[in-house]
Amino acid sequence: MSRAWRTSTEAFERDASLVAKWAAQHMQEAATAPIWSACSPGDLLKSLPEACPSDPVDVETVLAELKSHIVPGLVRWDAPGWFAWFPSNAHPHALLGDLLASCLGQQGMLWLSSPACTEVEMRALSWLRQALGLPDRFDFDGVGGGVIQDTASSAVLSCLVAARDRATQGRARRDGVDSAAEPLTVYASGEAHSSVLKAVHIAGIGARQFRPVPVGPGQGMSAEAFKEQLEADMASGARPIFCCATVGSTGCGAIDEVEEIAEVCAAHDIWLHVDAAWAGTAAVSDAFRPSIIAGADRADSWCFNPHKWMGANFDCSCLWLADRRPLIDAMSVTPEYLRNDPTESGSVIDYRDWHVQLGRRFRALKIWLLLRCTGVKALGAMVEHHVELSKLLERRIASIANIELAAPRSLALVCLRHVDGDEATQRVLDAINQDGALAATHCRIDGAKAIRIAIGTLAVEQEHVDALARVIELSA
Ligand SMILES: Cc1ncc(COP(=O)(O)O)c(C=O)c1O
Repeated sequence: MSRAWRTSTEAFERDASLVAKWAAQHMQEAATAPIWSACSPGDLLKSLPEACPSDPVDVETVLAELKSHIVPGLVRWDAPGWFAWFPSNAHPHALLGDLLASCLGQQGMLWLSSPACTEVEMRALSWLRQALGLPDRFDFDGVGGGVIQDTASSAVLSCLVAARDRATQGRARRDGVDSAAEPLTVYASGEAHSSVLKAVHIAGIGARQFRPVPVGPGQGMSAEAFKEQLEADMASGARPIFCCATVGSTGCGAIDEVEEIAEVCAAHDIWLHVDAAWAGTAAVSDAFRPSIIAGADRADSWCFNPHKWMGANFDCSCLWLADRRPLIDAMSVTPEYLRNDPTESGSVIDYRDWHVQLGRRFRALKIWLLLRCTGVKALGAMVEHHVELSKLLERRIASIANIELAAPRSLALVCLRHVDGDEATQRVLDAINQDGALAATHCRIDGAKAIRIAIGTLAVEQEHVDALARVIELSA
């Protein structure tokens, strides 16, 4: 019988270099390729054969198909003119780490299933913690620790479930949430990411029990507003269990009063989670660290996404806990087939107990390569470069008639609008997105449409910000 499913190592080596060459060429085209796909819904589907191909082809053929059929459906998040949403950088060193992770084929559900996957992740998280200046209570030496999750959404869900079970001594896990008998409430700023509400839905707490706290003029949540909401809820019998403070909101990068919010949480035994998904990367720079990590020393959990600004390609979200035990208690279910001596000994970390999924890939390797081959200093310099560019844009905007800042600049995020209102703002946004060299998206601030300019791709330079400012000026 032939062994047609196997590929020789020689063939792998040859094909891998073809793929690497193709990928390098593709990356090079980021500066000139149109950013938004011109595909209409269904175009790409129609161009692909409906029937599953039966005969294998060589990798060259697939690469040619990729170019002709799939590349037209790509959006170039790697373009230097990409200012939309947040950056989703894929640093070449991280990509190589990811490639190695795939090649090594590790399955890190248990320490036993891959000691390397587990312990490299523990060390990588500790390195990153140090690079960001986060407190050492998040390290494994005591009861803390860090884990790589797929996304910040999963991280907040995991922490909410842990908080729910901590507050109810496991009753919610055993019997389900009984909102009538025990109305658990969850808090976040009205500008917090929608993943908090989603977590409330999934954790069975109920959307009615979510309390978005109104934000102040800077769009951040004040401790005072949080406390006011909390006291009103407690007076009517609520049981507050969880607060998500945001450092760098999705809309305009607002930063909540984390230190003061932490005090309120401590007074009422409320789990404080910090979502610094985008802005967390800025803590690698000495210049920005203090404002990013403020209050972390009192948080129960702290999360940021290296897959956004830092360059550890998607997916890679880092979560640290001051006390890992409530999370493990909430997540741990052990069928017979997973029982093993190292786990029973209690001396190892089994990451399957740190999130929803069981199986997990070796994501730490992309952080490993990024930190070893690019280095923390260079990442700090990148952040500073991007913030300088956004200051430049801020100055340019100040000189453009009819355009104003919609919120104070936050790090490398600038929000602007047309003074004539939403329609005029939309016209400017359309002009930015028109010719494929630049991209931006929008948000609402105090009810009015605003254009978000998130500066942060690996390749962005002043010339790209100048080009953006010119388009804004001409369309204003
Ligand atoms: C502040 C903030 N939190 C959470 C998220 C969700 O991120 P993820 O895609 O990792 O779930 C985002 C996404 O942009 C965000 O801006």
